[in-house]
Amino acid sequence: MATSFEHLFDSIAPPAAEVAEMDPEDASENELYSSELAQIASAIATRRREYAAGRILARVAMGRCGVAATPLLNGPDRAPIWPAAVVGSISHTAGHAVAMAAPRGDLKALGCDIEVRAALPDRVDKRILLPREQGFVAATSRWYGRLIFSAKESVYKSLYPTTKRFINFHEVEIDLDLDRGKFVINLYSKDGKLPYQDRLRGRFSFNDRFLGTVVWIET
Ligand SMILES: CC(C)(COP(=O)(O)OP(=O)(O)OC[C@H]1O[C@@H](n2cnc3c(N)ncnc32)[C@H](O)[C@@H]1OP(=O)(O)O)[C@@H](O)C(=O)NCCC(=O)NCCS
Repeated sequence: MATSFEHLFDSIAPPAAEVAEMDPEDASENELYSSELAQIASAIATRRREYAAGRILARVAMGRCGVAATPLLNGPDRAPIWPAAVVGSISHTAGHAVAMAAPRGDLKALGCDIEVRAALPDRVDKRILLPREQGFVAATSRWYGRLIFSAKESVYKSLYPTTKRFINFHEVEIDLDLDRGKFVINLYSKDGKLPYQDRLRGRFSFNDRFLGTVVWIET
């Protein structure tokens, strides 16, 4: 039996951002530009649908920011090349896709992530979580490990346009505020060069199936 689609990000995105969500199953490749279709020419069906959902949703979000529809291509590093007027982010998993955009003058950057709400496999826990985070998960609930993972993915997406480098999961610590649906982000770069420590903000929400995180950098 099909489950009804539940929005997760409207309540947690920053006020300046426009958000759009859908089930990737409902995404049609007919809505893609030829240059976008070329990017997924050799991809399997699932990947094609998720890519299409991201583009459809990004155009809705950008449209609400006053940006005319245009191809949204990924660069060689796989990061989307957003039009100059906006910052944005895309995430998808089986059953849920999200895109958000905000006028570039209102936010420095955006990152979002959607994940299935389930515990991380045991073997990846230590690779993703710092000792303090591991202690928090052990004392609360195992799926919070996945929530911390998602928060780190959102941090990565928000910082990437500036850093342009891989960020190790142990360079970022997430301090969940379960009562407020927020998290504090602590940056621990070995070279001391991860930027925006004081301007990063993070929020999360969840339902029975999925969890979502948003990170933004204030201007
Ligand atoms: C890029 C990455 C964050 C994507 O996350 P994911 O959970 O695999 O997939 P999601 O569906 O959430 O996000 C995929 C979308 O992110 C966007 N994306 C890809 N690379 C990106 C980057 N470097 N920066 C910002 N956005 C990026 C794309 O829009 C992509 O969708 P598309 O290919 O359909 O356009 C992840 O694969 C990755 O490489 N992580 C690196 C390490 C990391 O996260 N460190 C965390 C410590 S801070």
